[in-house]
Amino acid sequence: MLYALSSGHKIGLAVVGAAFIIFALVSGMVIPRYSPNFPGPRWRNVYILVCVGFFAAMLAAVLVFGKEKKEASAATATSAASSSSSASAAPSGNAANGKAVFTANGCGACHTFKPAGSSATVGPDLDKLASYAKQAKQPLAQFTSTSITDPNAYIQPGYPKGVMPQTFKSSLSATQLADLVAFLDKG
Ligand code: HEC
Repeated sequence: MLYALSSGHKIGLAVVGAAFIIFALVSGMVIPRYSPNFPGPRWRNVYILVCVGFFAAMLAAVLVFGKEKKEASAATATSAASSSSSASAAPSGNAANGKAVFTANGCGACHTFKPAGSSATVGPDLDKLASYAKQAKQPLAQFTSTSITDPNAYIQPGYPKGVMPQTFKSSLSATQLADLVAFLDKG
C-alpha cells in the first residue's frame, strides 16, 4: 500500500515533468522550424499563459507529490522509531552482571537475598520481592526499579522510611539498574 502510493507519486511527478519537457521542446524547437513566426502576435499571450500554466503545474506537482512522499517516509520513520523505543522501554538486563552490581553497592548489608548469599535484616527480604510487588499492586519489574531509584515512593510496611540510600538513582547507570532489576526479579 505504501509502496504503491509512493511509486504513484513518482509517476505523477514524472508525467507532469515529461509533459513540460515535451511541450518546451516542441514549441521551442520543432514548431519554429515550420513556422518561424510561431507563436505570432495573435497567439503570443496564449502561449505565455500555457508556459506559466505548465510552470505552475510542475511546481504544484513537486509540492504535492514530493511532500506526500516525504510524509509517507516520515510515517515509516516514526513507526520504526516507536517500535525501537518500545523495545528500549523494557531493557532486558543481564542478571549475572546484576549480581556484581548488588554486591558492589552494598545492598547485601541491609537485605537478605539468597542468590547473592546475603542475610541482613535491616531492609525487607528481597527473596519475597514478587509478593511485595503484588502487595503494592505494581508490576514486578517496575516495582523493583522504582524501589531502588526512589525508595520512599513505597515503603514496605514494618520497615523504616529513609534508611535505604536514595543515591542509587544517580549513582547507577541505566544498564546497571536494568541488570540489577533482572538479577532481583529472577531470584
Ligand atoms: C542502609 C540499608 C539499605 C541499603 C544499603 C539498601 N537498602 Fe534496599 N531497603 C532498605 C530498607 C530499610 C527498605 C524498606 C523501606 C522501603 O521500602 O523503602 C528497603 C527497600 C528496598 C526495596 C523495596 C522492597 C519493598 O518491599 O518495598 C528494594 C527492591 C530494595 N530495597 C533493593 C535494594 C538494592 C537493590 C540495594 C542496593 C543497590 C539496596 N536496596 C540497598 C535498606 C537498604
